[in-house]
Amino acid sequence: MQILVLGGNGFVGRAIVEDALAHGAEVASFSRGQSGSPLPAGVTALIGDRETGDYEALRTGEWDAVVDLSGFRTRDVDQAMDVLGDRVGRYVFISSHAVYVRDLPAGTDETAPRREPLRDADVLTNDTYGPCKVACEDDIVERYGDQATIVRPGRVTGPGDSSGTALYWIRRGARGGRVALPTGPEQPLQLIDSRDVARLVNQLVTDERAGAFNAVGPESTITELIELSAELAGTSVDIVPIAPDAVPPRFPLVDPEPEWGERRRNPAKARSAGMSVTPLRQTVADVLKWDHDRGEPELSIGLTPEQEAELLGQR
Ligand SMILES: NC(=O)c1ccc[n+]([C@@H]2O[C@H](COP(=O)([O-])OP(=O)(O)OC[C@H]3O[C@@H](n4cnc5c(N)ncnc54)[C@H](OP(=O)(O)O)[C@@H]3O)[C@@H](O)[C@H]2O)c1
Repeated sequence: MQILVLGGNGFVGRAIVEDALAHGAEVASFSRGQSGSPLPAGVTALIGDRETGDYEALRTGEWDAVVDLSGFRTRDVDQAMDVLGDRVGRYVFISSHAVYVRDLPAGTDETAPRREPLRDADVLTNDTYGPCKVACEDDIVERYGDQATIVRPGRVTGPGDSSGTALYWIRRGARGGRVALPTGPEQPLQLIDSRDVARLVNQLVTDERAGAFNAVGPESTITELIELSAELAGTSVDIVPIAPDAVPPRFPLVDPEPEWGERRRNPAKARSAGMSVTPLRQTVADVLKWDHDRGEPELSIGLTPEQEAELLGQR
C-alpha cells in the first residue's frame, strides 16, 4: 500500500503516518516542511506550499490513497485534485465536526444537516472554518465519487498535541489544588485520541470505504478530564465553578451550554469501520508523559496561575 499524506508532519498527520508505517505501508508526506518533528525514517518528504499553489513535488508518483490534512478552502483541494487526478486511488479528506449545523441534539450521526458551504474566506474563524470544510467535502465527493472518503474528527488530542487546548486542562488537573472552571462541571467532552483517528483513516483506506465518518472519542466530561489528570499525576483537585464571562471568549475546551448536545456525536459508523477507542485515561497518561519529556514549555492559552488565583480569591 502506498499512501500520500498532505500534512504528514503535523499533529494528526504524524499519527496517520506512524499508523500507516506500522501496518506496512510506504508513505510520502507533502508539506512546507516547517511543522512538527522530523518525519520517521523511510518516509519520503515532498516539499511544496498550498498557499502559493506550489505542487511541483506532486507532479509524478502514484498512490493507493491521498490523505488530505492541509485542505481548508476549496482552492486547496481543487488544486490538489487537479495535480493528482487519477494517480491516487482514493481521496481521504480530513474534515471536521465543525461542518454540522449548531444546536443539534445529542447523539446525531453523519446524516445530520451540515452548514451552508463557503468556497473561500480571508480568515478561518469559528464562523468560516466549518462552512469552508463543507465546500471542500462537496468538491471532493463531486470529483472522486465512490473513491472519496470524508473523516470528521471532533476535538483531537494525544502525544504531539501542541495546540494546548486539551493540554491546558490536563496540566491544570495534574498541578492539583483549587481549579477555576468557567463552565458547568458536567460539560460533555468527546475528545478523540489522534492514534484512533489514524487507525480509522488507514482502515478506511485498506477497505476502500467511501462515505463520511464521525471520528469522536468516548463520552466524558470536563470534570472527568481534570480529575483523571490529577489522579494520574498523584495530586487532588477541588473544582470551583466560576462565571464563563470571567475569562476570555473561546477559552480552551469551554462550550456554551446550548452547544453541549452537539458535543455528543454518534461514532457508531466509524467504530464499526475499525476505529480504535483509546480510553481517556490512556490518552491523558500518554499526553502527560509526552509533555514531560519535551520539558513542558509555557502555554500561550488559558489562565496563568496568578490570574487563576486572583479569580479564585474573589470567591
Ligand atoms: N487538531 C484537531 O483537534 C482537529 C479537529 C478536527 C479536524 N482537524 C483537521 O485535521 C487536520 C490536521 O490538523 P492538525 O491539528 O494536525 O494541524 P497541524 O498540526 O497544524 O498540521 C497542519 C499540517 O499541514 C501542513 N501545512 C500547513 N500549511 C501548509 C501549506 N501552506 N502548504 C502545505 N502544507 C501545509 C503542515 O506542515 P508545514 O507547516 O510543514 O507546511 C502540517 O503538516 C486539519 O485539516 C484540521 O482541520 C483537526
